[in-house]
Amino acid sequence: MMSSPPDHARLREQLAAAGQEHIYTFYNSLATAERDRLDAQVASIDWSLVQELVETIVKRPRSCVRPGTLEPAPYFPHHPADRETEEKYRLAHRRGEELLRQGKVAAFVVAGGQGTRLGCPGPKGTLPVTPVRSKPLFQCFAEFIRAWESRCGRAIAFYIMTSPANHAATVAFWTQQRYFGLGDDQVMFFPQAMLPAVDFAGKVLLESPASLALCPNGHGGSLLALHKSGSLADMARRGIEQISYFQVDNPLVRCLDPVFIGLHDLAAADMSSKMLPKACGKEKVGTFCLADGKLTVIEYSDLPEALAEQRCPDGTLRFSAGSIALHVLRRDFVERLGAGGFALPYHRAEKKVSCLDLPSGRLLHPAQPNAVKLETFIFDALPLARRSIIYEADRQDEFAPIKQLEGVDSLRSSQEITVARNAAWLEAAGVKVPRQPDGVPDCVIEIAPSFALYPEDVRRRKHQIPPLSPGGSIYLA
Ligand code: UTP
Repeated sequence: MMSSPPDHARLREQLAAAGQEHIYTFYNSLATAERDRLDAQVASIDWSLVQELVETIVKRPRSCVRPGTLEPAPYFPHHPADRETEEKYRLAHRRGEELLRQGKVAAFVVAGGQGTRLGCPGPKGTLPVTPVRSKPLFQCFAEFIRAWESRCGRAIAFYIMTSPANHAATVAFWTQQRYFGLGDDQVMFFPQAMLPAVDFAGKVLLESPASLALCPNGHGGSLLALHKSGSLADMARRGIEQISYFQVDNPLVRCLDPVFIGLHDLAAADMSSKMLPKACGKEKVGTFCLADGKLTVIEYSDLPEALAEQRCPDGTLRFSAGSIALHVLRRDFVERLGAGGFALPYHRAEKKVSCLDLPSGRLLHPAQPNAVKLETFIFDALPLARRSIIYEADRQDEFAPIKQLEGVDSLRSSQEITVARNAAWLEAAGVKVPRQPDGVPDCVIEIAPSFALYPEDVRRRKHQIPPLSPGGSIYLA
């Protein structure tokens, strides 16, 4: 059955009630198809939600509600400190591998972000990143998953969240690359929802005379999107119980980590997280805290400086656990969140959004943030979990994010971290790595997941590694 076109007069009334009638500034000059497109866009938005968010987080930015007590959240250290913990990790590893072998774990990447800081054309996952072969981020994940598939002897389902803005390009890329060797029935794509970006006065921005400036609704939108797209139901059909959640920007990410999955499962946790010790008190990452006893991520701007800088007797930061947006979620926990309408709080994210100047219609490309994006964050689901564990990641081995063009968290820094990690793995296996006088590796090394997922794999395959020459490059697969 064809749906009838939206009633333009009613839409105008709705916009007037929401204080957004400027959206139709250019309506009379639009061709019929453009008018219909704009009407359809307007009809797809929940304007009472937009109005509420404009009032509560754009015009009157919500002041942070200070909890009564704020304590550091406990976590499992990466290296077990005693025999008991060592034994626990051994059991966790075994449990994690068992779940993978039973097909009860899916990998899930959130790739719906706009990557404005990096500004790369096309979906961020298509960015070539590896130091020798220039493999794109998506290929890094596919190869990692394939390496685990060959270890556990079965296919692993991989869900990819896109946004309406990059969905078609993402699917076309994977299709063209033949799913990087994964089966087309095991890679599932679905888009998240969008919300309009608004200026600091709460007015919705126009991207063109016939289109709103729409932005994805934050990585927290992944939970609703998992539900709405039918992915949760698909997971249930496939017998998937645990969802291994990660971001698109880190080529070294352990998309599947049996110890982490096992610790989470053995604790019967709903949602668990990986952390990294913060480099300094002011580092711009969220901090895992117990706020009135509830596990919460406090954004860096909301953690009082006195607490951010507080030290333990041994000199380490007391609030040290930085969030790196790696989680394992039970499928039935996400299903349960649906009963509450996936009601995560919205945050204001101040960003640069290209938009039309009104009433001139000139297209502006702002040099400074000019807009508020309305986003929910995945970590806001943590206080809703009945149980949670936090596990420390290994900064050198698994963390090389790419967020911006230059400096920290750039493609260059990510490649340097990758080569440094690979050099350390080779040296730990007894392979000689040429180094420059300042200690930086004097060769470019890329290790494919098919060759090694852990340093131990390099040790076992040491005999396959040819000698490295200064200034050279090597690719191990
Ligand atoms: P970021 O916070 O780095 O945001 O996303 P971004 O939109 O990609 O980049 P900037 O801030 O505009 O430069 C962290 C992860 O969350 C995903 C991103 O794709 C990335 O994997 N994400 C973010 C979504 O999937 N949807 C969103 O709405 C926002």
